[in-house]
Amino acid sequence: MAQLSGVPILILKEGAERKQGKNAQKNNIAAAKAVAEAVRTTLGPKGMDKMLVDSLGDVTITNDGATILDTIDVEHPAAKMIVEVAKTQDEKVGDGTTSSVIFAGELLNLAEELIEQSVHPTIIFRGYRKALLKCKDLIKDLSIKIEPDDKETLTKLAITSMNSKLITGVKSQFADIAVRAVTQITEDRGSRRIIDLDQIQIIKKEGKSLLDTKIIDGIIIDKEIVHPMMPKSILDAKIALISSSLEVEKTEFDAEIRIQTPGQINKFLEEEANLLKNRVLKLTEIGANVVFCQKGVDDKAQNILAKEGVITVRRVKRSDMEKLARASNAKIINNISDITSGDLGKAGRVEEKKIGDDNMIFISECSDPKAVSILIRAGIEHVVDEAERMLHDALSVVKATIEFPYILPGGGASEIELAKQLKAYARSIGGREQLAIEIYANALEIIPKTLVENAGYNPVDLIVELRSKHETEAGKSSGINIDTGKPDNMLDLGVLEPSSVLIQAIQSATEVSSMILKIDDVIAASSLSKGSQD
Ligand SMILES: Nc1ncnc2c1ncn2[C@@H]1O[C@H](COP(=O)(O)OP(=O)(O)OP(=O)(O)O)[C@@H](O)[C@H]1O
Ligand SMILES: [Mg+2]
Repeated sequence: MAQLSGVPILILKEGAERKQGKNAQKNNIAAAKAVAEAVRTTLGPKGMDKMLVDSLGDVTITNDGATILDTIDVEHPAAKMIVEVAKTQDEKVGDGTTSSVIFAGELLNLAEELIEQSVHPTIIFRGYRKALLKCKDLIKDLSIKIEPDDKETLTKLAITSMNSKLITGVKSQFADIAVRAVTQITEDRGSRRIIDLDQIQIIKKEGKSLLDTKIIDGIIIDKEIVHPMMPKSILDAKIALISSSLEVEKTEFDAEIRIQTPGQINKFLEEEANLLKNRVLKLTEIGANVVFCQKGVDDKAQNILAKEGVITVRRVKRSDMEKLARASNAKIINNISDITSGDLGKAGRVEEKKIGDDNMIFISECSDPKAVSILIRAGIEHVVDEAERMLHDALSVVKATIEFPYILPGGGASEIELAKQLKAYARSIGGREQLAIEIYANALEIIPKTLVENAGYNPVDLIVELRSKHETEAGKSSGINIDTGKPDNMLDLGVLEPSSVLIQAIQSATEVSSMILKIDDVIAASSLSKGSQD
């Protein structure tokens, strides 16, 4: 509200709320910190899980930062910005969501203390930017380059990403599956490697145990064979993918056929059936013994195909047709008269199997499939769902590493080392910005601190021990041994993380905390619900 010779001028609509200056900042920081606090206890292998109940009463039990924040309904605008950090992290690299949120919360927490000491937010903001750029350089130096086909290291990275998840005991099996799946669908295009995780189809079915989870060198189609007389399994399959229907063709225009004798109608129907028969037999002529049809297959066509011993599946989704094409190296054909034997795909085995209560078609033993399926089994739904989230992290980490093959020691080792080197850098900057860079370094230590705290050890002692280890070159990879509560070499323990996960985490955490710090005025329009109550 401005004043003009004593008369107030209203610039905002009635009911709008406005917070300014330190008040606005404090309020935003408190909200962002609250979000970070909500996920803090889930970080690391000894982190706890959250049980989330949505408005319909559906329960999710998870340890996954992105899932937790996605499920809880956050109202406050600054809190929403923090939730965005987790989402971005999940989309870009698929892991490290909890870490990025906790780090953002700590950057704001420590900034608040500086603001209390009358350091202007702009200075903090500038210091944070410098610290981020320096950190990225330091990460380059600290990172270890690996060969993208180094399966052993990729497996260790996958296991580290799953260490913190609810389900234990199947980690190495899941890690093997993740590495196999991602390397299988990786395509080399010149010097670039392209990985599209959508080419890994995940099928979840309750029943049996997690140990029965497996990867199929091919695709699973959630459909049944159309005709009971068709074989239930075929070895050495030659697969035709047809996008048009296998039915008696209807003429495109209205035609009138005058029939004088009953013989003529029979002849006409016979002719129609013959046309269809010729089309269908074209498939067997070129050697197809399995047919996937995107549209319908009528009774007549079914009978012919059953007689010929061809497995046929109809109304297959377009996306599944594409996966089948990638898995078996087949071409999707619209006009059957054009099909040749070169268009057929190959699979060692095609069979219908009962999984749980449903029949499904397994197209497996493909020789170099560019799309694969993973079938997740577990006794109950909650476990199947968490297993899927866990697999998502493992697949993402393997993908991220193949695309950018640099890794870092985990268990807080890299954060402690970065903090140490960043503090040395801060001293070279001097002035008030030095303070901001120093608190950035301190904020990085929130990751090892939280890991230790969640594992039930004393963070103060352990962080001091870790810092002193990092004084020497040999101690550079020292992180927390979660089992002993002592510093240990993370490279020796095989606790490894992709560099891209840490780079993305500090990048988005810095961006969002700087953005929140720069806000000194929050103007909120009166909400609709408030308005309607008036
Ligand atoms: N065996 C281990 N010993 C020590 N630290 C470990 C071990 N395994 C994993 N960690 C650490 O746990 C942290 C990751 O924990 P967590 O997976 O819960 O969070 P996140 O990856 O940040 O988020 P999310 O997985 O929910 O997206 C990393 O700092 C990682 O180095
Ligand atoms: Mg993780």
